[in-house]
Amino acid sequence: MSARHFLSLMDCTPQELNGLIRRGIELKDLRNRGALYEPLKNRVLGMIFEKASTRTRLSFEAGMIQLGGQAIFLSPRDTQLGRGEPIADSAIVMSRMLDAVMIRTYAHSTLTEFAAHSRVPVINGLSDDLHPCQLLADMQTFLEHRGAIQGKTVVWIGDGNNMCNTYIEAAIQFDFQLRVACPAGYEPNAALLAQAGERVTILRDPLEAVRGAHLVSTDVWTSMGQEEEAAARMALFRPYQVTRALLDAAADDVIFLHCLPAHRGEEISEDLLDDPRSLAWDQAENRLHAQKALLELLVEPAYHHA
Ligand code: CP
Ligand code: NVA
Repeated sequence: MSARHFLSLMDCTPQELNGLIRRGIELKDLRNRGALYEPLKNRVLGMIFEKASTRTRLSFEAGMIQLGGQAIFLSPRDTQLGRGEPIADSAIVMSRMLDAVMIRTYAHSTLTEFAAHSRVPVINGLSDDLHPCQLLADMQTFLEHRGAIQGKTVVWIGDGNNMCNTYIEAAIQFDFQLRVACPAGYEPNAALLAQAGERVTILRDPLEAVRGAHLVSTDVWTSMGQEEEAAARMALFRPYQVTRALLDAAADDVIFLHCLPAHRGEEISEDLLDDPRSLAWDQAENRLHAQKALLELLVEPAYHHA
Protein backbone atom coordinates (compact mmCIF):
# COMPACT_ATOMS: atom_id res chain seq x y z
CA MET A 1 0.00 0.00 0.00
CA SER A 2 1.24 3.48 -0.74
CA ALA A 3 0.10 5.28 2.41
CA ARG A 4 2.75 6.87 4.57
CA HIS A 5 2.97 5.45 8.11
CA PHE A 6 4.57 6.56 11.37
CA LEU A 7 5.45 3.38 13.25
CA SER A 8 8.92 4.49 14.28
CA LEU A 9 11.08 7.64 14.24
CA MET A 10 13.00 5.89 11.47
CA ASP A 11 9.98 6.36 9.15
CA CYS A 12 10.97 10.04 8.85
CA THR A 13 14.21 11.70 7.82
CA PRO A 14 16.00 13.84 10.41
CA GLN A 15 14.91 16.91 8.42
CA GLU A 16 11.27 15.81 8.56
CA LEU A 17 11.47 15.15 12.29
CA ASN A 18 12.97 18.57 12.97
CA GLY A 19 10.29 20.07 10.72
CA LEU A 20 7.54 18.27 12.66
CA ILE A 21 8.84 19.70 15.91
CA ARG A 22 9.08 23.23 14.57
CA ARG A 23 5.57 22.87 13.17
CA GLY A 24 4.35 21.60 16.54
CA ILE A 25 5.63 24.84 18.09
CA GLU A 26 3.83 26.87 15.40
CA LEU A 27 0.54 25.01 15.95
CA LYS A 28 0.90 25.53 19.71
CA ASP A 29 1.32 29.24 19.11
CA LEU A 30 -1.75 29.28 16.81
CA ARG A 31 -3.83 27.59 19.48
CA ASN A 32 -2.54 29.90 22.22
CA ARG A 33 -3.58 32.88 20.09
CA GLY A 34 -7.06 31.36 19.69
CA ALA A 35 -6.77 31.08 15.92
CA LEU A 36 -9.09 28.66 14.12
CA TYR A 37 -7.12 26.28 11.89
CA GLU A 38 -9.07 23.37 10.42
CA PRO A 39 -7.14 21.69 7.61
CA LEU A 40 -8.57 18.26 8.55
CA LYS A 41 -12.24 19.19 8.20
CA ASN A 42 -14.34 16.06 7.56
CA ARG A 43 -11.31 13.84 8.17
CA VAL A 44 -11.65 10.96 10.61
CA LEU A 45 -9.00 9.24 12.71
CA GLY A 46 -9.72 5.75 14.06
CA MET A 47 -7.97 4.98 17.36
CA ILE A 48 -7.51 1.34 18.38
CA PHE A 49 -6.46 0.98 22.02
CA GLU A 50 -5.48 -2.49 23.27
CA LYS A 51 -3.93 -0.83 26.36
CA ALA A 52 -5.00 1.95 28.71
CA SER A 53 -4.21 5.60 27.93
CA THR A 54 -4.86 9.11 29.16
CA ARG A 55 -2.49 11.37 27.20
CA THR A 56 -2.37 9.52 23.92
CA ARG A 57 -6.13 9.21 23.61
CA LEU A 58 -6.81 12.79 24.68
CA SER A 59 -4.11 14.36 22.56
CA PHE A 60 -5.16 12.55 19.39
CA GLU A 61 -8.87 13.09 20.01
CA ALA A 62 -8.56 16.76 20.99
CA GLY A 63 -6.00 17.30 18.22
CA MET A 64 -8.31 15.95 15.51
CA ILE A 65 -11.22 18.06 16.77
CA GLN A 66 -9.05 21.19 16.89
CA LEU A 67 -7.89 20.53 13.31
CA GLY A 68 -11.53 20.37 12.21
CA GLY A 69 -11.87 16.58 12.08
CA GLN A 70 -13.10 13.81 14.35
CA ALA A 71 -11.60 10.82 16.15
CA ILE A 72 -13.30 7.52 16.93
CA PHE A 73 -12.19 5.44 19.93
CA LEU A 74 -12.16 1.71 19.18
CA SER A 75 -11.64 -0.87 21.89
CA PRO A 76 -10.87 -4.49 20.96
CA ARG A 77 -13.48 -5.38 23.58
CA ASP A 78 -16.17 -3.86 21.40
CA THR A 79 -14.89 -4.53 17.88
CA GLN A 80 -14.52 -7.77 15.95
CA LEU A 81 -10.73 -7.42 16.31
CA GLY A 82 -11.19 -8.62 19.88
CA ARG A 83 -13.15 -11.66 18.63
CA GLY A 84 -10.45 -12.81 16.24
CA GLU A 85 -11.16 -10.95 12.99
CA PRO A 86 -7.77 -10.97 11.26
CA ILE A 87 -5.67 -7.80 11.51
CA ALA A 88 -5.30 -7.70 7.72
CA ASP A 89 -9.07 -7.88 7.14
CA SER A 90 -9.66 -5.21 9.80
CA ALA A 91 -7.06 -2.96 8.18
CA ILE A 92 -8.63 -3.31 4.74
CA VAL A 93 -12.11 -2.46 6.01
CA MET A 94 -11.20 0.28 8.50
CA SER A 95 -8.88 2.05 6.10
CA ARG A 96 -11.67 2.27 3.50
CA MET A 97 -13.70 4.34 5.96
CA LEU A 98 -11.06 6.34 7.82
CA ASP A 99 -8.39 8.88 6.88
CA ALA A 100 -5.79 7.63 9.39
CA VAL A 101 -5.55 4.98 12.10
CA MET A 102 -3.71 5.19 15.41
CA ILE A 103 -2.98 1.92 17.20
CA ARG A 104 -1.79 1.29 20.76
CA THR A 105 -0.89 -2.37 20.97
CA TYR A 106 1.30 -5.07 22.54
CA ALA A 107 3.15 -6.79 19.67
CA HIS A 108 4.79 -4.33 17.28
CA SER A 109 3.94 -6.80 14.49
CA THR A 110 0.27 -5.82 14.92
CA LEU A 111 1.23 -2.35 13.68
CA THR A 112 3.36 -3.54 10.77
CA GLU A 113 0.72 -6.04 9.68
CA PHE A 114 -2.07 -3.49 9.91
CA ALA A 115 0.03 -0.94 8.01
CA ALA A 116 0.82 -3.45 5.27
CA HIS A 117 -2.90 -3.72 4.49
CA SER A 118 -4.00 -0.15 5.17
CA ARG A 119 -4.81 2.41 2.48
CA VAL A 120 -4.37 5.22 4.98
CA PRO A 121 -1.55 6.30 7.33
CA VAL A 122 -1.06 4.18 10.45
CA ILE A 123 0.42 5.81 13.57
CA ASN A 124 2.10 3.96 16.44
CA GLY A 125 0.45 5.15 19.64
CA LEU A 126 2.80 2.84 21.64
CA SER A 127 3.79 -0.78 21.20
CA ASP A 128 5.86 -3.07 23.42
CA ASP A 129 8.86 -1.93 21.34
CA LEU A 130 8.43 1.77 20.57
CA HIS A 131 6.62 5.01 21.48
CA PRO A 132 7.58 7.46 18.71
CA CYS A 133 4.79 10.02 19.31
CA GLN A 134 6.11 10.55 22.83
CA LEU A 135 9.56 11.38 21.50
CA LEU A 136 8.13 14.07 19.23
CA ALA A 137 6.78 15.76 22.37
CA ASP A 138 10.04 15.21 24.27
CA MET A 139 12.15 16.70 21.47
CA GLN A 140 9.76 19.65 21.14
CA THR A 141 10.03 20.30 24.88
CA PHE A 142 13.83 20.27 24.80
CA LEU A 143 13.91 22.60 21.79
CA GLU A 144 11.51 25.06 23.45
CA HIS A 145 13.47 25.25 26.70
CA ARG A 146 17.10 24.60 25.72
CA GLY A 147 17.41 24.92 21.92
CA ALA A 148 18.86 22.28 19.59
CA ILE A 149 19.56 18.89 21.13
CA GLN A 150 22.21 18.00 18.54
CA GLY A 151 25.50 17.17 20.25
CA LYS A 152 23.98 17.16 23.76
CA THR A 153 24.17 14.32 26.30
CA VAL A 154 20.94 12.54 27.19
CA VAL A 155 20.64 9.95 29.96
CA TRP A 156 18.01 7.25 30.23
CA ILE A 157 17.67 5.71 33.70
CA GLY A 158 15.89 2.45 34.48
CA ASP A 159 14.19 -0.06 32.22
CA GLY A 160 15.42 -0.58 28.65
CA ASN A 161 11.79 -0.53 27.50
CA ASN A 162 9.76 0.93 24.62
CA MET A 163 10.62 4.50 25.69
CA CYS A 164 14.32 3.69 26.00
CA ASN A 165 14.32 2.07 22.54
CA THR A 166 12.71 5.19 21.12
CA TYR A 167 15.35 7.39 22.78
CA ILE A 168 17.95 5.31 20.90
CA GLU A 169 16.14 6.05 17.64
CA ALA A 170 16.02 9.71 18.64
CA ALA A 171 19.76 9.71 19.37
CA ILE A 172 20.36 8.52 15.80
CA GLN A 173 17.87 10.89 14.17
CA PHE A 174 18.49 14.01 16.28
CA ASP A 175 22.24 13.38 16.61
CA PHE A 176 22.85 13.30 20.37
CA GLN A 177 24.80 11.07 22.74
CA LEU A 178 22.71 8.72 24.86
CA ARG A 179 23.79 6.97 28.07
CA VAL A 180 21.51 4.24 29.34
CA ALA A 181 21.82 3.27 33.02
CA CYS A 182 19.94 -0.01 33.52
CA PRO A 183 20.28 -3.24 35.49
CA ALA A 184 21.86 -6.24 33.73
CA GLY A 185 19.20 -8.14 31.81
CA TYR A 186 17.04 -5.03 31.22
CA GLU A 187 18.97 -3.52 28.32
CA PRO A 188 17.17 -1.99 25.34
CA ASN A 189 16.75 -3.71 21.97
CA ALA A 190 20.07 -5.22 20.80
CA ALA A 191 19.52 -4.50 17.09
CA LEU A 192 18.83 -0.83 17.83
CA LEU A 193 21.94 -0.65 20.02
CA ALA A 194 24.01 -2.09 17.18
CA GLN A 195 22.49 0.42 14.76
CA ALA A 196 23.30 3.32 17.08
CA GLY A 197 26.94 2.26 17.52
CA GLU A 198 29.08 4.57 19.65
CA ARG A 199 26.27 7.07 20.02
CA VAL A 200 24.76 4.95 22.82
CA THR A 201 26.57 3.59 25.88
CA ILE A 202 25.20 1.22 28.51
CA LEU A 203 26.21 1.78 32.14
CA ARG A 204 25.07 0.28 35.41
CA ASP A 205 25.62 3.27 37.74
CA PRO A 206 23.05 6.11 37.44
CA LEU A 207 25.35 8.60 39.18
CA GLU A 208 28.16 7.96 36.73
CA ALA A 209 25.67 8.15 33.85
CA VAL A 210 24.21 11.58 34.70
CA ARG A 211 27.51 13.49 34.99
CA GLY A 212 27.31 16.46 32.61
CA ALA A 213 23.91 15.37 31.23
CA HIS A 214 21.63 17.96 29.57
CA LEU A 215 18.50 15.79 29.65
CA VAL A 216 17.62 13.01 32.08
CA SER A 217 14.57 10.82 31.57
CA THR A 218 13.06 7.71 33.07
CA ASP A 219 9.82 5.71 32.96
CA VAL A 220 7.84 3.22 35.02
CA TRP A 221 9.67 0.07 36.10
CA THR A 222 6.75 -2.12 35.05
CA SER A 223 5.25 -1.36 31.66
CA MET A 224 1.76 -2.31 30.58
CA GLY A 225 1.66 -6.06 29.97
CA GLN A 226 4.40 -6.86 32.52
CA GLU A 227 2.22 -6.63 35.62
CA GLU A 228 3.12 -10.10 36.90
CA GLU A 229 6.80 -9.06 37.05
CA ALA A 230 6.07 -5.97 39.15
CA ALA A 231 7.37 -7.22 42.53
CA ALA A 232 10.65 -8.56 41.13
CA ARG A 233 11.20 -5.39 39.13
CA MET A 234 10.49 -3.17 42.14
CA ALA A 235 13.34 -4.77 44.10
CA LEU A 236 15.79 -4.81 41.18
CA PHE A 237 15.21 -1.24 40.00
CA ARG A 238 15.34 0.41 43.44
CA PRO A 239 18.89 1.83 42.89
CA TYR A 240 17.62 3.49 39.70
CA GLN A 241 15.23 6.00 41.30
CA VAL A 242 15.72 9.52 39.89
CA THR A 243 16.00 12.09 42.69
CA ARG A 244 16.84 15.78 43.03
CA ALA A 245 20.28 14.75 44.33
CA LEU A 246 20.89 12.68 41.20
CA LEU A 247 19.98 15.66 38.98
CA ASP A 248 22.43 17.79 41.01
CA ALA A 249 25.23 15.66 39.50
CA ALA A 250 24.13 16.53 35.94
CA ALA A 251 24.81 19.76 34.01
CA ASP A 252 23.61 22.99 35.67
CA ASP A 253 20.98 23.45 32.95
CA VAL A 254 19.76 19.82 32.95
CA ILE A 255 16.07 19.18 32.36
CA PHE A 256 14.10 16.15 33.50
CA LEU A 257 11.39 14.53 31.41
CA HIS A 258 8.95 11.71 32.20
CA CYS A 259 6.41 10.47 29.66
CA LEU A 260 3.91 9.84 32.50
CA PRO A 261 2.08 8.25 34.18
CA ALA A 262 4.64 8.50 37.01
CA HIS A 263 4.95 6.44 40.17
CA ARG A 264 6.26 8.73 42.91
CA GLY A 265 8.43 6.82 45.35
CA GLU A 266 9.36 4.30 42.65
CA GLU A 267 11.17 5.48 39.50
CA ILE A 268 11.12 9.09 40.76
CA SER A 269 11.32 10.56 44.26
CA GLU A 270 8.11 12.01 45.74
CA ASP A 271 9.21 15.59 44.99
CA LEU A 272 10.80 15.28 41.56
CA LEU A 273 7.90 16.54 39.44
CA ASP A 274 7.82 19.69 41.64
CA ASP A 275 11.49 20.43 40.94
CA PRO A 276 11.95 23.37 38.53
CA ARG A 277 14.19 21.13 36.40
CA SER A 278 11.21 18.85 35.65
CA LEU A 279 9.27 19.84 32.52
CA ALA A 280 6.95 16.83 32.56
CA TRP A 281 3.75 18.91 32.38
CA ASP A 282 4.93 20.89 29.35
CA GLN A 283 6.06 17.60 27.85
CA ALA A 284 2.61 16.07 28.33
CA GLU A 285 0.93 19.12 26.75
CA ASN A 286 3.28 18.91 23.79
CA ARG A 287 1.82 15.54 22.86
CA LEU A 288 -1.13 17.55 21.56
CA HIS A 289 0.87 20.02 19.50
CA ALA A 290 3.47 17.60 18.12
CA GLN A 291 0.81 15.08 17.06
CA LYS A 292 -1.27 17.77 15.38
CA ALA A 293 1.82 18.47 13.26
CA LEU A 294 2.12 14.73 12.59
CA LEU A 295 -1.56 14.39 11.60
CA GLU A 296 -1.21 17.37 9.29
CA LEU A 297 1.88 15.84 7.64
CA LEU A 298 0.29 12.43 7.17
CA VAL A 299 -3.30 13.38 6.30
CA GLU A 300 -2.99 16.77 4.58
CA PRO A 301 0.68 17.18 3.64
CA ALA A 302 -0.16 20.19 1.45
CA TYR A 303 -0.85 22.18 4.62
CA HIS A 304 2.35 21.07 6.36
CA HIS A 305 4.87 23.90 6.18
CA ALA A 306 7.85 22.50 8.06
N1 CP B 1 2.77 8.99 27.91
C1 CP B 1 1.68 8.33 27.48
O1 CP B 1 1.67 7.74 26.41
O2 CP B 1 0.61 8.42 28.33
P1 CP B 1 -0.75 7.60 28.22
O3 CP B 1 -0.43 6.15 28.55
O4 CP B 1 -1.65 8.23 29.24
O5 CP B 1 -1.30 7.72 26.82
N1 NVA C 1 6.70 2.10 29.21
C1 NVA C 1 5.34 2.46 29.52
C2 NVA C 1 4.99 3.74 28.84
C3 NVA C 1 3.59 4.25 29.11
C4 NVA C 1 3.27 5.52 28.39
C5 NVA C 1 4.41 1.34 29.12
O1 NVA C 1 4.61 0.77 28.03
O2 NVA C 1 3.50 1.02 29.88
